[in-house]
Amino acid sequence: MKKILIANWKMNKLRGESVAFIENIVEQDTVDIAIVPPFLSIQQIKEYALSKNILIGSQNMSEYSHGAYTGEISATMLKDVLCDFVLLGHSERRKIFLENNDVISRKVERAVVEKMPFILCVGETLDERDLGQTEEVITHMLNEALSSLIGSHWDLVTIAYEPVWAIGTGKVATKEMIRSVHALIRDKLIEFSPEKGESIRILYGGSVKSENVKEIFSIDNVDGALVGGASLEALSFNQLINEVSV
Ligand code: 13P
Repeated sequence: MKKILIANWKMNKLRGESVAFIENIVEQDTVDIAIVPPFLSIQQIKEYALSKNILIGSQNMSEYSHGAYTGEISATMLKDVLCDFVLLGHSERRKIFLENNDVISRKVERAVVEKMPFILCVGETLDERDLGQTEEVITHMLNEALSSLIGSHWDLVTIAYEPVWAIGTGKVATKEMIRSVHALIRDKLIEFSPEKGESIRILYGGSVKSENVKEIFSIDNVDGALVGGASLEALSFNQLINEVSV
C-alpha cells in the first residue's frame, strides 16, 4: 500500500489560489497525494487534479441526504463534483462546531449509504492525555463511529489520528506516542474486521512538516499524514512530498 500525503487547507484559499497551487505540485508516483480544499474550490481544481492523479476531498458533509437543511452540503452534491472522499470528525468540527460522537456516527452512516469514502479523525486533548485517558478516548471514538460497519463498508474507511494538542501548535507527538496509538487503532480495526483491518490506512496529523515527515512515516502503522499549516504553500507541500518520495 502506498503512503498518502493529504493537504487539509481548512478555511484558506480562493479558487484562483487553489488552481495555482495544484499546478505547482511536483509529480511523482511514490506517494499518493490528496487535497482537501474549501467546498467552493472542489469543482474547479478537480479537473487539474485528474490530470495529475491527485485525489480531492471535502472537509465536511451533512448527515442528511437532502431537504430543508440550510447551509448544509450533501454527499450527493459532493459526488456530483467528483469529490473522492470526505473528512469526518475533524477536531475543529468537534470542538468549534460541537459535533459530538452521535453526529459523527450519523455522518459515517450517511457516507456508507452513499458509498462515499471517508477519513474518520480521532484524537485526545491534552487534558485527556495528562489524565491517562488517551486509549479510552480513542477506543470510544472508534466504537461510536464504526461499530455498525460490516463487510465491504470497510473499503470506505481511513482513520486519521490527530492529537488535538498537536494541531497547529508546532508540538508533534513523540514517536512512541504515535506508535502506540496507531497500534491501538490497528488492533481495533482488526477486531472490527479481521479481513480488512490490516489494510485500512491509518494517518497521523498534527504539526507535520518537512523536518519531521520522514521520521513519522517510518513508524509502524503510519500509512500517511494529514497536513494543515505546512500544506498551505506549494513550496512547503512540495518539500514534504520530496522528503518522502525519494
Ligand atoms: P497542522 O498540520 O497545522 O497541525 O494541522 C493538522 C490538521 O488539522 C490536519 O487536518
